[in-house]
Amino acid sequence: MKIRSAEIVVSAVNRDQYPNEGIPEIAFVGRSNVGKSSSINSLLNRRQFARVSQTPGKTRTINFYLINKEFYFVDLPGYGYAKVSKTEKASWGKIMERYLSRRKELCNIFLLVDIRHEPTNDDKAMYDWIKYYGYDCTIVATKADKISRGKYQKHLSIIRKKLGLSDEKIIPVSSLKKTGFDDLWNEIINIYTE
Ligand code: GTP
Ligand code: MG
Repeated sequence: MKIRSAEIVVSAVNRDQYPNEGIPEIAFVGRSNVGKSSSINSLLNRRQFARVSQTPGKTRTINFYLINKEFYFVDLPGYGYAKVSKTEKASWGKIMERYLSRRKELCNIFLLVDIRHEPTNDDKAMYDWIKYYGYDCTIVATKADKISRGKYQKHLSIIRKKLGLSDEKIIPVSSLKKTGFDDLWNEIINIYTE
């Protein structure tokens, strides 16, 4: 896809700050540090567009990025970072729930998991939550540069098993090597032309 424009429209906490023009959205969710912001940058072919955090667990807002004035990428705060307090965890939960419940603009959720590891219980809970709310979900396996290609299938089947996937796709990507993003774009195009 040719990127003609990409702009951050809002960093939102509350519902009344969300965009309200009815433009379709794809949300990026996953553990803190899994590579959500990096993946957005790789898709857009920009280096520092979505902020890549040095300190994990810092993103506490929902960032809406308008692409080609046609759709939004929505960068959600990561979960599972051990060093955040209980109060912060509770506020994360509220921010997520506010967004994920009844968001009619949301067409698909990209759930990002690290290709190297079995998904955590938090990942599984997130996946179940997505399904519970009735959203379509695409699994993105990040940091694929960290394992050899020959090991992809083994790792992908561990991910598939832990999350309890049926026919959902898993797309391996690497922001370091810039691989997998053509596949991810194809997925995005499919989502919009459905
Ligand atoms: P939060 O905003 O804290 O939830 O994190 P995030 O999911 O947005 O992760 P982010 O994109 O900020 O990346 C976290 C760290 O992982 C950074 O140090 C990145 O450079 C690194 N990283 C991201 N993607 C890749 C990848 O594909 N390969 C490798 N090797 N490192 C990556
Ligand atoms: Mg981030």
